[in-house]
Amino acid sequence: MPTLSEIDEIKLENLSVEEFIDKQVDEIRSVVGDGVAINALSGGVDSSVVTMLGHRALGDRLRTIFVDSGIMRRGEPEWVHSVFKDLGVEVEVLDAHSEFFGALKGLTDPEEKREAVTQTFYKTVFGRAVRESGAKYLLQGTNYTDVEETVAGIKRQHNILEQLGIDTESMFGYKVLEPLIQLRKSGVRRVGKALGLPEEVYNAPPFPGPALATRVIGEVTPERVATVRLANFIVEEELRGSGAFQYLAILHEDRVTGISGGERDFGQQIEVRCWDSTDAVKGTPTKLPFESLERLGNRIATEVPGVVSVTYNITTKPPSTIEPI
Ligand code: XMP
Repeated sequence: MPTLSEIDEIKLENLSVEEFIDKQVDEIRSVVGDGVAINALSGGVDSSVVTMLGHRALGDRLRTIFVDSGIMRRGEPEWVHSVFKDLGVEVEVLDAHSEFFGALKGLTDPEEKREAVTQTFYKTVFGRAVRESGAKYLLQGTNYTDVEETVAGIKRQHNILEQLGIDTESMFGYKVLEPLIQLRKSGVRRVGKALGLPEEVYNAPPFPGPALATRVIGEVTPERVATVRLANFIVEEELRGSGAFQYLAILHEDRVTGISGGERDFGQQIEVRCWDSTDAVKGTPTKLPFESLERLGNRIATEVPGVVSVTYNITTKPPSTIEPI
């Protein structure tokens, strides 16, 4: 597996989509041979594109799994299953709630939380699925920016393994294939469109591998995930038409005094972020109309139990990052 300097980035202006697809399909076929491969589909752009490439290359010899980790967005497992059923791809949904929440219990450090999600995902849940299926390869949608940010030490991206010196074969029992490693997100979207994915998938705002665990400051418990899930759902519903690059809700750990039902309440705080960006490397907060912010504040404070304060991030990346964890 190449290091960052050995990866030959394909810039958008140099991307020939059909050529790229043919090359990656051939490569997957030649590496996997007549064996079986497996891939994890989250429904995000990267893993959806990899799923389509893999199915084009291997047909039924690619097993596509959606890990229902308990930290996904509202309705996500059912939505992903149905979108891909319409594309002729059968997705197996694995329930792993107890494993993820068990691994996250008591953790508050951001990198420890990311590490717990990574280990549970790759070792516990996928290691088992791979052993059961006899697959020797895992296809995944690591892109150029993921590698860049991890190597730069900004954040340990959940899907970066071999670039950090992790030998997946000896640790987890399978090799990893990364057909999108030369592309940034904008290139991945073009490839997704050409592969026939619906626009709601290929143009979807990015969503991180460790899912809502990146949006809970402090301990990630089922109750706290339920709070951020509902707030995030409202943010997505309200800002879907905004044209912004990415928008999200964050649950803070600090509590603040507020009023619920006419009484003093030491309640929870939600922070909303909405980003203008082209590639997630830099970002600026979207200048949303104040009416949109007011609507968000009102809806989140009335619809999400326990929330008494809603704030909007006004910091650029850097020094902020897009996700808080
Ligand atoms: P940050 O928070 O580092 O995020 O500014 C940059 C972009 O990457 C997404 N992100 C991730 N994507 N696995 C992913 O696949 C991850 O572990 C991960 N962490 C952050 C984030 O949503 C943003 O678009």
